[in-house]
Amino acid sequence: MSKSGVNEERRRVLTAMTSVVGAAGVVGAAVPFVGSWNPSAKAKAAGAPVEVNIGKLEPGQMITVEWRGKPVFVVRRTPEAIASLEKVEPTLRDPDSEKSIQPDYVKNKARAIKEEIVVLLGLCTHLGCAPTYRPEVGAEDLGGSEWLGGFFCRCHGSKFDLAGRVMAGVPAPTNLEIPPYKYLSDDVLLIGEDQEA
Ligand code: FES
Repeated sequence: MSKSGVNEERRRVLTAMTSVVGAAGVVGAAVPFVGSWNPSAKAKAAGAPVEVNIGKLEPGQMITVEWRGKPVFVVRRTPEAIASLEKVEPTLRDPDSEKSIQPDYVKNKARAIKEEIVVLLGLCTHLGCAPTYRPEVGAEDLGGSEWLGGFFCRCHGSKFDLAGRVMAGVPAPTNLEIPPYKYLSDDVLLIGEDQEA
């Protein structure tokens, strides 16, 4: 075989190898797209409903759980807190939750399936800070005798009552959002799934 014949043969082998590598490259490039079409188990778990045991939650206490990367507040209201919901109404912007986001089955006075337990997305409806739970009636820094307990957003001073309803005259435009939830038993909530109609 002449020297140029060897080179010719070598060129053909190299060309064939390049084609194989090229094909592998295409397959490799396709993998990320396939991955994004089929969410991983981790991604599915991140969007999954969350079970919360409220059996040990005392009246007046709040627990925070994470659902879809967001804080969700669960509060067991005292009888006094439930009674305050009507008293505070004249100071609210949207007392009947007409302009606020919540499932239809909690569009009632207590904004809850059972009035002693309220479930709220813990993100201020102004710019998304996490409000602080402030149940102390008459807290001096929140208006003294006018304050019947609720949530306070330190970022720009928005105030909400113990049903997450926004006070008039603060930056937050609407009540705290309520996520879908249901009771699996008296002591266990499932956050992220609607109760059956
Ligand atoms: S983010 Fe809450 S008042 Fe602005």
